[in-house]
Amino acid sequence: MNVEILRSTVSDNYFFLIADEQGRAALIDPIDGEQAVEFVKRHGYELKLLLNTHFHPDHVGGNQTVLQAFPEARVIAGSGDAPVIDQQFGGAGQRGVDETVSGGDEVQLGQVVLEVIDTPGHTPGHISFRVEHHLFSGDTIFVGGAGNCRFGGDPAILFETFRDVLRELPPETVFYPGHDYAVRNAQFLLSIEAEHPETMSVLEEAKAAADDERLMQTTLGRERTYNAFMRFDDPKLKQALAAGFGEQLQASRELSDSEEEAVFRCVRSLRNNW
Ligand SMILES: [Fe+2]
Repeated sequence: MNVEILRSTVSDNYFFLIADEQGRAALIDPIDGEQAVEFVKRHGYELKLLLNTHFHPDHVGGNQTVLQAFPEARVIAGSGDAPVIDQQFGGAGQRGVDETVSGGDEVQLGQVVLEVIDTPGHTPGHISFRVEHHLFSGDTIFVGGAGNCRFGGDPAILFETFRDVLRELPPETVFYPGHDYAVRNAQFLLSIEAEHPETMSVLEEAKAAADDERLMQTTLGRERTYNAFMRFDDPKLKQALAAGFGEQLQASRELSDSEEEAVFRCVRSLRNNW
């Protein structure tokens, strides 16, 4: 299997192509439709699938351009978000979702099988696709961060996705986020825990990646060691929040069912206003 990382020229997104040994390919959230089409043609891939992780326009906005060039490709999206994708593409000659999937389903791409995982919170029906140790996670988790909950999201649900899904996946899982906010995220984390050694090394790597216009990537295991959204049960993080942001932590407690959720919510709201 081959994974290609593409950097959008029309937005600050990254999008991805995966292909089996025979060159049968899937595009994931190809926002930059023209680049996606050109890339598929130049490499001689046979585009079978167009996968969408969630309904936001910066993830589905390239669908029509791709489908005009490759009408035989099938559009697959999560059953929760698919109706909102269809609403956006109700015009003449436009195509919506061909097939909906949800957690536990499998998507076949030639010899490659992708597992669908429900990862709601950034949007109500956000899904991720996993194959081997690769996780195409859309806007659920970022290097040093988490998806925002501003446009249809819910921090309580995003917390559950982090606790019950992301923290349970194997630590060697490499994730492919839809954006690279790593530099800003690491700087934000250092505003809570100054001189956290792992955050400082991520910041250096993220700056080097940004200089090279390359997507900064880590594993879920590495995120567990420094990303505050993955450390809702870490007493050191809670201490730092209580010391520096006591009021916000208390406000988060009032909205939360558990202390762990309060920590997660507090980090989310601090990042919203940072
Ligand atoms: Fe999004």
